Amino acid sequence: MKNSDTYASSLARSGALETAIAADPGRFRVLTGDRPTGALHLGHYFGTLQNRVRLQDAGVETCIVIADYQVVTDRDGVGDLSSAVHDLVLDYLATGIDPTRSTIFPHSAIPALNQLIVPFLSLVTDAELRRNPTVKAEAEAMPDRPLGGLLLTYPVHQAADILACGGTLVPVGKDQLPHVEMTRLIARRFNDRYADGHAVFAEPEPLLTDTPLLSGLDGHKMSKSRHNGIELRATADETARLIRRAKTDAIRTITYEPEARPEVANLLRLAALCSDETPEQIAVSIGDKGSGVLKQIVTDAVNGYFAPLRTRRAHIAAHPDHIASTLRDGVARATELAELTLDRVRTAMDMQYLTTTR
Ligand code: TRP
Repeated sequence: MKNSDTYASSLARSGALETAIAADPGRFRVLTGDRPTGALHLGHYFGTLQNRVRLQDAGVETCIVIADYQVVTDRDGVGDLSSAVHDLVLDYLATGIDPTRSTIFPHSAIPALNQLIVPFLSLVTDAELRRNPTVKAEAEAMPDRPLGGLLLTYPVHQAADILACGGTLVPVGKDQLPHVEMTRLIARRFNDRYADGHAVFAEPEPLLTDTPLLSGLDGHKMSKSRHNGIELRATADETARLIRRAKTDAIRTITYEPEARPEVANLLRLAALCSDETPEQIAVSIGDKGSGVLKQIVTDAVNGYFAPLRTRRAHIAAHPDHIASTLRDGVARATELAELTLDRVRTAMDMQYLTTTR
């Protein structure tokens, strides 16, 4: 299937999944996650964090993997991992992830999860790994770096994240779809090759949202490494400063024209996400008052919308023991899930000989 077909069919399927979730949330388990490479920004919030909280609150058990091993797919060291993980957990909790209902864990802390990579690697070919469009794009973004074994195989590691926890729903952005496809392939092949077709693994499904993607304030894709987003933890003043510097265009009258005026449209979309008006309505209300007024409106909308989250974040930051216990509980629950899975894997593969008494 072409990538665009996969996207269109996944989007269509996501609608049906939403209906099934509303009817019986207990049937599903969400698994998704992030690399601990920097503070989360508004793009993450509207693209995925908000959705995770919604699913959690709808009653779907939710697991969030902090993909710390994935940090070294494209760099030479993990950096200050302890503060990166600390900040990530803070962002999750401030957003409304509730550790009594959701499991937050770094995958390096779960030996049984990592061990799944060995049988999983036996199920994919090097051609399949090299074809992965997201891996290809990541490799092309670093022309001076040879393609490392981990970059090539991290989608298999990601399959281990998902399948170790029995994830059935993977709420992700479009760029992660190839990884969910690979996870489905691994689940299917495992069942066929090692389990006589028995469903040791269910095939997880991606869950896409139709939230329009926010661009960075410089007009490029919003990304942690470009520093062109507004971080969740930014203060109101920092937010104002960043928006004041945002790229716009030379036309005074504000109109919502995503194709012709992408930067202005992006700011209008951001204001709309933080208010109950549409981008078109906001554009009309500004009219010929120009981009200065647009930026003021965006700033007020963002700061108003995120004020409660930022207050909550500061409150939790003052209680670091809460973050430590969130991770401790998360690791315990993820270990329990992964050990159960590994046990089923080894049983299916007839590898339980050490514990079998003759
Ligand atoms: N690759 C994902 C990212 O960079 C993070 C991730 C790791 C993930 N494991 C996952 C996402 C499993 C979904 C499911 O954002």
